[in-house]
Amino acid sequence: MSHCRLCESALHPVVGFGPMPIANGFLTPEQLTPERLAAERFFPLELAMCPACAMVQLVDVVDEAAMFNADYAFFSSTSVGMARHFGRFAADVKARWLPDDPFVVELGCNDGIMLRHFGAGRHLGVEPSGNVAEAARRLGLDVDDRFFTAELADEIRGARGPADAILGANVVCHIPYLDAVFDGVRRLLGPKGVFAFEDPYIGDILARTAYDQIYDEHVYYFSLTAVVGLAARHGLDVIDAERQPVHGGEVRFTLAHRGARPIHPRVGALAAEEATRGLGEPSTYDTFAAAVAASKEALVEAVRETDGPLVGYGATSKSTTVLNYCGLGPDDLAYISDVTPTKIGRYTPGSHIPVRSYAEFCADPPRHALLFAWNHAEEIMAKEAAWRAAGGRFLTYVPRVGWR
Ligand code: SAH
Ligand code: TMP
Ligand code: ZN
Repeated sequence: MSHCRLCESALHPVVGFGPMPIANGFLTPEQLTPERLAAERFFPLELAMCPACAMVQLVDVVDEAAMFNADYAFFSSTSVGMARHFGRFAADVKARWLPDDPFVVELGCNDGIMLRHFGAGRHLGVEPSGNVAEAARRLGLDVDDRFFTAELADEIRGARGPADAILGANVVCHIPYLDAVFDGVRRLLGPKGVFAFEDPYIGDILARTAYDQIYDEHVYYFSLTAVVGLAARHGLDVIDAERQPVHGGEVRFTLAHRGARPIHPRVGALAAEEATRGLGEPSTYDTFAAAVAASKEALVEAVRETDGPLVGYGATSKSTTVLNYCGLGPDDLAYISDVTPTKIGRYTPGSHIPVRSYAEFCADPPRHALLFAWNHAEEIMAKEAAWRAAGGRFLTYVPRVGWR
């Protein structure tokens, strides 16, 4: 029996995806030799939910240094759409929450995609992956390349004073020791300060059977219900909860010290919606598990029935779950096209499909492409309009398996 990382109650098992490699553990050609492959690391990817505190979570986690290091493959700024989104996030924080001469801390600032908008004032990025931290520094940003912990929070406050805003996008759900993070946030935040973070929303994952959001880096899958409970245990209020149309559906949670700021009506509205949908009920997750199994079956069938060669589009972290869970490999996909220089020339973790440059995709366009980067569909459909007009077709699997 496994127990909740946060409240220690017995967990309700949801789905087991089998042995899974590190989602961003793309292999170099040298690592493809049989001896080196034997060392490729797998862990059991299993999702569970806590009937007591409603937090959806991974049962086993990979140690953080194995995922977030100087070889981290994900550079945020590869998506123009996300750059725009973070420009708006930053503008919104400035307009709604910040005093004059604010001090802004961003957890997991990656290559600076959002922090750059605060670069003219007092700011600090906390980014343990050395290569992306270095990219942010090249933009003139101040970055500490350690993991955010309660101790680091105290150190930052001692050296630079309290924060007016602590921000995080797609990072808070990555951190297993969430209680320590919330404790650190409470200590670092000034009296009127806000903690605004956004992560994939379990409500959207369930609604769209987006099981590929489940991978090693995503330790938690937030509902407002679970976040309100966690915040309350740390003396914090959730003062806003806004749905965001990015990465397949996220919620931006804004927190403040208890009683420090009024609570927006959106919070009560989303809480009521979650209660109606049963997001704290184990049976809701049993329904999801059945939908995941059906989605896998439909995708494998669609891939095997594809007439002619198929390539992948976007070597996303999410694709690691799909490829390994569905048992797809180089016989099913000739290669996966990606724009990220650090992924090109490597091989997908576990499934060992070559990652090739987007230039190759353009030079010899295939007829069929499996869209792994479905969360960027709008941007990609616009970019590939000519290819589709010439007969190119995308196979998708979120929200359901089909061609478009
Ligand atoms: N905010 C960016 C990057 C998300 S990827 C975006 O939304 O695009 C997650 C980032 O969090 C990685 O760059 C990783 O190195 C960083 N990270 C992981 N654990 C962390 C921790 N404990 N403290 C701060 N950053 C962390
Ligand atoms: P993400 O889903 O984690 O944001 O990763 C998206 C991946 O897809 C990343 O490796 C970059 C790649 N990608 C492309 O190859 N072409 C594109 O047009 C976009 C938007 C992303
Ligand atoms: Zn719990």
